Amino acid sequence: MKNLIQNLPKAELHLHIEGTLEPQLMFRLAKKNSIKIPYETVDEVKKAYEFDSLQPFLDIYYAGASVLVEKRDFYDLTWAYLVKCKEENIVHAEIFFDPQTHTSRGIAFGDVVEGIVEALNDAEKKLGISSFLIMSFLRHLSEEEAIKTLKESLPYKYFIKGVGLDSSELGNPPSKFQKVFQMAKNAGYECVAHAGEEGDASYIKEALDLLHVSRIDHGVRCDEDIELMKRLRDEQIPLTMCPLSNLKLKVVDDLKNYNLKKLLDFGILVTINSDDPAYFGGYLNENYEAVAKSLNLNEDDIKTLAINSFKASFLSDEAKNRYIEDIN
Ligand code: HPA
Ligand code: ZN
Repeated sequence: MKNLIQNLPKAELHLHIEGTLEPQLMFRLAKKNSIKIPYETVDEVKKAYEFDSLQPFLDIYYAGASVLVEKRDFYDLTWAYLVKCKEENIVHAEIFFDPQTHTSRGIAFGDVVEGIVEALNDAEKKLGISSFLIMSFLRHLSEEEAIKTLKESLPYKYFIKGVGLDSSELGNPPSKFQKVFQMAKNAGYECVAHAGEEGDASYIKEALDLLHVSRIDHGVRCDEDIELMKRLRDEQIPLTMCPLSNLKLKVVDDLKNYNLKKLLDFGILVTINSDDPAYFGGYLNENYEAVAKSLNLNEDDIKTLAINSFKASFLSDEAKNRYIEDIN
């Protein structure tokens, strides 16, 4: 099973680039940029990465991101993830970044995008990995702030495929961002949103009905509403699920009770992703392995999940079919 998971070409569709910041790089950048962080050893960092819900994780994750200052730092962060992709046979990645986490500290929007995009271009040339960039709005901030960020992004639109919605879900429903998502759609961006990670099934319905997203990030709690499950299945709206993230943030108490296999068997277009691998203890293949083991997935399930990762992507139909034929 491990070999199959390793050897299958895969796409990763739910990955926050700031969530790939490994402790070693965090220490190096903190020193270079004279940023204070509350840890001195990798052990101390790992100890701090114990979370009982989403918010305590986000607090540590935003603090970690403060070491990213120069364009080069964003390049190095992104390149390190892409090298990992190569090792794991991830051939296509759709990568989130959180511009507001950086612009709020005085970092130029252009430095963030250019640093990331240079690494993505190098990966296409040197590693044969294709990618798209998705800009996420922080939902704990106001819609006005999101609109400001959308406007800032327009000169860089060529490099950005779509917009997303992340950060503290509870109390910040999709309805808060209707206007900015309509503006993003009018500007030609694809739209996705985190929903149903901690928020209930109504957050998923709002993301579909009010934000008109084409993909749901997480979506774990869709199983509270059978009509919603049927809709996700009938309209083949993908879920980008993240097993180790959901385990670490106590969205699920044990992966043996994870609903991924149930949703897959129901016919929903489920995909496996790593979310914030430096914080949650595993990159993509480790997420596949953890679920395969806990839910007794068979080889056909694993192949279906890899095929789904391409089906759910923003690649052209031609590129999707090429990868799917490879897998078959
Ligand atoms: N949920 C919400 N916001 C996030 C996450 C997540 O899992 N990871 C990074 N930002
Ligand atoms: Zn996420």
